[in-house]
Amino acid sequence: MYTTAFLDLPHLTSAGGTVRLPGSKSISNRVLLLAALSTGHTDIVDLLDSDDTQVMLKALAQLGCRIETQPDGALRVHGLGGQLPVKQAPLFLGNAGTAMRPLTAALALLASEQGGSFELSGIARMHERPIGDLVDALRQLGCPVDCLGQEGYPPLRLGDGAAHALKLDQPIRVRGDVSSQFLTALLLALPLVARQDVVIDVVGELISRPYIEITLNLLARFGVQVRRDGWQRFTIPAGSRYTSPGLIHVEGDASSASYFIALGALAPASPGTDGITIEGVGLSSIQGDIRFVEAARLMGADVSGEANRLHIRRGAWPLKAIELDCNHIPDAAMTLAVMALYADSTTTLRNIASWRVKETDRIAAMAAECRKFGATVEEGVDFIRVTPPTTWTTGSIHTYDDHRVAMCFSLAAFNPAGLPVRIEDPKCVAKTFPDYFEALFEVCQTPEQAIPVICIDGPTASGKGTLASEVAQRLGYHLLDSGALYRATALAAQDAGIDLDNEPALARLAAQLPVRFQDHRVFLAGRDITDPLRLESTGGMASRVSQHPSVRQALHALQLSFRRLPGLVADGRDMGTVIFPHAQLKVYLTASAEQRAQRRYKQLISKGNTANIDSLLADLKVRDQRDTSRAVAPLKPAEDALLLDNSDMGIEPSVQLVLSWWQGKTVFSAR
Ligand code: DC
Repeated sequence: MYTTAFLDLPHLTSAGGTVRLPGSKSISNRVLLLAALSTGHTDIVDLLDSDDTQVMLKALAQLGCRIETQPDGALRVHGLGGQLPVKQAPLFLGNAGTAMRPLTAALALLASEQGGSFELSGIARMHERPIGDLVDALRQLGCPVDCLGQEGYPPLRLGDGAAHALKLDQPIRVRGDVSSQFLTALLLALPLVARQDVVIDVVGELISRPYIEITLNLLARFGVQVRRDGWQRFTIPAGSRYTSPGLIHVEGDASSASYFIALGALAPASPGTDGITIEGVGLSSIQGDIRFVEAARLMGADVSGEANRLHIRRGAWPLKAIELDCNHIPDAAMTLAVMALYADSTTTLRNIASWRVKETDRIAAMAAECRKFGATVEEGVDFIRVTPPTTWTTGSIHTYDDHRVAMCFSLAAFNPAGLPVRIEDPKCVAKTFPDYFEALFEVCQTPEQAIPVICIDGPTASGKGTLASEVAQRLGYHLLDSGALYRATALAAQDAGIDLDNEPALARLAAQLPVRFQDHRVFLAGRDITDPLRLESTGGMASRVSQHPSVRQALHALQLSFRRLPGLVADGRDMGTVIFPHAQLKVYLTASAEQRAQRRYKQLISKGNTANIDSLLADLKVRDQRDTSRAVAPLKPAEDALLLDNSDMGIEPSVQLVLSWWQGKTVFSAR
C-alpha cells in the first residue's frame, strides 16, 4: 500500500496480464455479521482485508465474538447464536457504511430484547451521512435510539440498558430511495427477532436493488428465506434462525473489477498479451456491479467471461459516448465517468442521486476532478454529463478520502497528451483495495524513459543511502542502492574464494549475482547478508571489486531493471553519469571528509562497534581517491547534477531540498 502524501503516475501506454481481485466489500461485511449472529462457526475464505472489514472485525470482537485465523488462511467466526455476551460497548466504525447500518439495526433490536446499550460513532464524514430513515424504522419497532449529535445522523446510542417489547405486528415502513443499506440493515437484523412473520414495506422507489439481492442471497446461505413481493414488500417468516453454512467463499469485488474492465477497454494490449484477465469475479457473480460489464460494452469494451473470470480487450476506439440510467450500478458507474473522458462525444450518467451521500459528494467530486483534465462537466442533483477534453491537461487529483475517486482517476494516466497524473492521499484506497496501485502497475506498461529516475551520487559516507531511501519513501518510488550490488559481489567472491584481482571470475559472478532485496533486507542465494553487507571491510572490498570494467558491465543490466513503475531513486557513484544518463533529476551529494568520518564513526559506535576516527578518515580518503581516479565510471558529478553539500545539514532539510528540486521538475509544480 502507498502511504505517501501523493503518488505520481507516469503516463501509461498499454496494459495486459492477469489481476486477482480482493474480496467483495459488500459480501465480506455482510458475511462477517451473519457469521457472528449465527449458531455454529463459519470459516470464511478470501475475505477482503481492508479498512472497512477491519472496522467490522474489531466491532464484532468488542461484542464478544471469537474470531481466529485457521492454518489454511480462512477466518473462523464463532457465532453468538443471536445472544449478546457483552451488553454495553462504544463502537467506532470509521467511515464504513456497510458496518454502521447493519450493526445499528442488529444492535438496536438485540439491545431492546436482551437489555443493553451501545454507542456507535465514526469519522466526521460518517456523522454527515444520513441514517434517519433507519432510525425511524427502528423507533417504530419500539427500540430506543438516540442521535447523539444531529437528529438523523450518527453518532447513535442504541438501547437504554432495559429490555423492551418489540412491536412486530405492524409492517415496518422504511424508505428505499436514499440508500438501500437501510433495507439491507433491517433484512439482516429482523430474523434475530422473528418469532412471528415480520413484514417490511418499502416507501418510495427502491434504489440500488442489486445490493438487496446480495443481502437476500446471503440470508439464504445462512438459512433464512425471505419472501419478496416485487420490491415493495419483504416478509421474514416466523421462526427464522441463522445457521452457519460451515464454509463460505467471498467473491472478488465486482466494483473493484470496474477499474480493470475500464483499463482493458481503454488501454492498447501490451505486446505479448491478450488484454486484461480478471480472476475472482465473473459472469455468475451475485454482485450487482457485475452489470458494469454491460455498460462497458456499450462504450465499446470487448468483454468475455466465465463464471469466475473476465477477459477484456479494447474494442471500439475512441470509446462510444453513452446515456445511461446508472441506478443499478451506483458505485461502478463512477468508473464510467472517467471512461467518458476517452469517448467520442458527451456521456450522461443519470439517476445517481445516491452519489451525493457516499464517502463524499461524489457527483461534485467527479465533476471537479474531471475538469482538471480539460473535460466540460455539467452536474445536476442526480446526473453528471461529461464532454471529453479537446485538449488534455492534467492536475493533482484531490481524492476526498474516497477510495473510488482515487482508483477512477488512475485511469486518466492513459491520456493521449502523454501527461502524468498525481493522486493525492493514495492510501485512501485501503477502504476496499489496499494494493490497488501495485495491482495496476503490475499490468501496465510505459516506455522506460517515461518512468522517472532520481539519481543521488556521492562519495562514501556522504549520507546518500539515507537520503535516497527517504526520498524514495516519500514518493513511493523503488530504491536502488547500487553500492549494495558491489558489496554483494565482494561477499560472494569471498564465499567462493575468488581473488579480488581476478577480473574475469568476478565478472562471471556479478553477471549471475543471486541477490534479492526484500523488506529492507538483502539476501544472497537465500542467505540474509544485510549485516555483513554494511561492514567497513565489505565496503573496502567493494571498492576494489568495482575497479574492474567487466564487473561494472556485468552489473549494468541488473541496475537498469530497477527502473519500474511508478519511479526509481538510485544512489551510488555513477547513477547520473553512466547508468541513468537521462535521469530527470541528478543530485551530487558531498560533505567534507572530516564530516563524513565523524558520521561513520557515530554510526559504528551506535551499533556497538569499536572505531577509530583517524583510521576511518584515512580509509575514507583512500576510497575517495580510488573511486575518483579509476579508469571507468569514476566518481564525479554529472554535468547536469545539482550539488548538495550537506556538511552542515541534517537529513530532513536535505530530504526537503531534494523533494523541492523534484517538485520543480514535475508538471504539478505550478500549484
Ligand atoms: O556506496 P557504498 O559505500 O555501498 O559503495 C561501496 C563501493 O562500491 C564503493 O566504494 C564504490 C563502489 N560503487 C561503485 O563503484 N559504483 C556505484 N554506483 C556504487 C558503489
